Amino acid sequence: MNLPPHLSVRDSHLYIGGTDTVELAERWGTPLYVTDEARIIEKFRQYREALEKRYPDVRVLYAAKANGNLAILRTLAALGAGADVFSSGELLLGIRAGIPPERLLFNGSSKSREDLSLAVANNVPVSVDSLDELHQLDEIAGNAGKTAQIAFRVNPALEVPTHPKIATGLATTKFGIAHDLIPGVYREALECRNVDPVGIHCHIGSQILEIEPFARAAGVMMKIVSDLTAMGVNLRFVDLGGGLGIPYHHDSDPVPTPEDYAAAVVPIFLEGIRKAGISPELWVEPGRSLVSDSTVLLARVNSVKDAHSKFVNVDAGFNLLVRPAMYDSYHEVLVANRAGGKPEEIYTIAGPICETGDILASDRMLPRIATGDLIAVLDTGAYGFAMSSQYNSRPRCAEVMVRDGQAALMRRAETLEDLTATMVTPPWQR
Ligand code: LLP
Repeated sequence: MNLPPHLSVRDSHLYIGGTDTVELAERWGTPLYVTDEARIIEKFRQYREALEKRYPDVRVLYAAKANGNLAILRTLAALGAGADVFSSGELLLGIRAGIPPERLLFNGSSKSREDLSLAVANNVPVSVDSLDELHQLDEIAGNAGKTAQIAFRVNPALEVPTHPKIATGLATTKFGIAHDLIPGVYREALECRNVDPVGIHCHIGSQILEIEPFARAAGVMMKIVSDLTAMGVNLRFVDLGGGLGIPYHHDSDPVPTPEDYAAAVVPIFLEGIRKAGISPELWVEPGRSLVSDSTVLLARVNSVKDAHSKFVNVDAGFNLLVRPAMYDSYHEVLVANRAGGKPEEIYTIAGPICETGDILASDRMLPRIATGDLIAVLDTGAYGFAMSSQYNSRPRCAEVMVRDGQAALMRRAETLEDLTATMVTPPWQR
């Protein structure tokens, strides 16, 4: 199997960032998420360089929903990243990581008044998703004696080749405002006292492995940019969203890179702003493509069962990695303590959750597996821990960051006691 440069096999053990995964699992226990910081830095630089060499005023906003660990946000903040935040929690994470508020964008189709107030209080720009929200924000900003900087989220009505649950730019999704209604909503915003429409935003979906849809979306957006500029809107940023996919199948054909993305999209942006006669910042919001391949999920084999399939029962399931169950998604799997071993048997890797669908990987040809072996699930840095739960009352696992042979916790494991820590006894039960 092709491995990215931060993963390697030495003496039959899988290493990440120069660290032996077998030792990490012994030191911190399993399940365990392990993230290589240097890989994230490398990915971020690739992204920014690909865009910046074509246009100097670029801002890469990390989509914090992909992985909200503060250590990762801090790494990216130190490189100058902004962040797409989708909740008050993500907004606070962005600020705690040291990202300046003007480099955050508060996105979302269903923000509460508390969310909007927090954005206003912290001077974080808001991507507005409806006229109703616009007027609520106008009122909240007015009460706070502030002017809220806003964009509108455009629904470009585009079909994109990805799983239907993560295609966000279809006309039928809950996200954004139909592109033909956009001039009208900016007109309305220009009349509001306490909001300043300074940007425009779209996001067409996730895990997209073709460049053409991004180019199409950029075309739709730049047409709108030109119309809005003619109307007197002074756009200071154009945010084209995230969505570039990654090669979950390691032996598949190469997939588009940030360089391919920039080569196709930036010329459309440049042509659009030239026609409009403006020079706004170009914003993008990658999540998965920045952090996914930085991380492996380590799980211990509890038992092996020869049944309908050869089941390898491990200690991590869809409580910690829901993507296979939720989107039928594929993640490469290795036996971390026999990583060089000859593939001999077909196994299905099953989690400990009380549901038939709790399968991490089906029918994989792997070296012979025994109880106590260590399974590594690859490409789990995006939407892995971030979508975890305590289902079946399983405490969430720890997360470790490695860098050049060093390793440190970036989140402790929850304990059994943590499970009841937020529960309250109703008075009549006392
Ligand atoms: N910007 C906005 C407004 C978004 O909604 C998203 C992702 C992103 C940026 C980042 O997209 P990315 O570059 O990561 O594709 N849980 C699903 C993915 C959901 C994506 C939601 N929005 C999965 O595991 O595949």
